Amino acid sequence: MVDAAGFQLEDVTVRFGTVRALDTVSLDIAPGSAVGLVGPSGGGKTTLLKALNGSQPPTSGRVRVAGRALGEVSRGELRGLRSHIGFIHQGLDLVPNLRVAHNVIAGRLGQMGFARSLGAFLFPSRAVLREVHGLLERVGIEDKLFERTDRLSGGEQQRVALARALFQRPTALIADEPVASVDPARARDTVELLARISREEGLTLCMSLHNLDLARGFLPRLVGLRAGRVVFDRATRSIDDATFDALYALGARNGRAEDAATELREPPPIGEARLDGG
Ligand SMILES: Nc1ncnc2c1ncn2[C@@H]1O[C@H](COP(=O)(O)OP(=O)(O)OP(=O)(O)O)[C@@H](O)[C@H]1O
Ligand SMILES: [Mg+2]
Repeated sequence: MVDAAGFQLEDVTVRFGTVRALDTVSLDIAPGSAVGLVGPSGGGKTTLLKALNGSQPPTSGRVRVAGRALGEVSRGELRGLRSHIGFIHQGLDLVPNLRVAHNVIAGRLGQMGFARSLGAFLFPSRAVLREVHGLLERVGIEDKLFERTDRLSGGEQQRVALARALFQRPTALIADEPVASVDPARARDTVELLARISREEGLTLCMSLHNLDLARGFLPRLVGLRAGRVVFDRATRSIDDATFDALYALGARNGRAEDAATELREPPPIGEARLDGG
């Protein structure tokens, strides 16, 4: 068990030009808890996850990790905090022509000086390889230790990304759409695995997911994000279908579920729909 890190966002806004990817978002994620992020494309999920690990600094507002305000710590401390947050990216971010073992070992590079990292990476000790093997066993692909990563299936590569995050000895796991590119059965396995390992290790887990059934099946709390705003933040079992429908409804522009629901009930006459934009 590790000391899990908690996260707080206080009135966090992230602007890209005129786009508010996040708009005064406040969120409290307790150490060791599990949260799912849901909502339509462009809603701000990736931006929020990046804000949590400090890779996307807010335009305004404050982010705390393990009680430390990211904007106020030294670069060294920021690097230390980040190196213990396992981040599984939307595109997994593995190096395709490296062997699985090396992709996993890469997880700890942020925690060592350059020379030591390079040595550990090029010539991993037996102890390190044993540890990597143990992690691969944990995620169910121990036979792939020396396989080239690009020869693995999409689902197996997801497991490599998870093993790499675990090799960081993380205080929290952040996963951005970790099951975007695999079949439904494997997607279910992976989300189940992420939720179970986080629970067993006492890690904080925050994961974005487009698959609502999986989000509802494995995450006890869901945050709905739309147009950069939190539309709901509730215990999963208390969220009904209408709330989800409103979150994903097409056509709503201002990011409020209530308005989205209204637009759903009152579609514009078909004759008025314009495709040419003119
Ligand atoms: N680096 C960037 N530069 C400019 N705009 C950006 C950048 N990153 C995100 N955005 C914009 O911010 C908004 C939120 O993007 P974000 O990637 O957080 O959405 P998302 O919920 O993760 O979407 P998806 O479900 O498609 O992954 C979008 O309008 C996006 O175009
Ligand atoms: Mg995204």
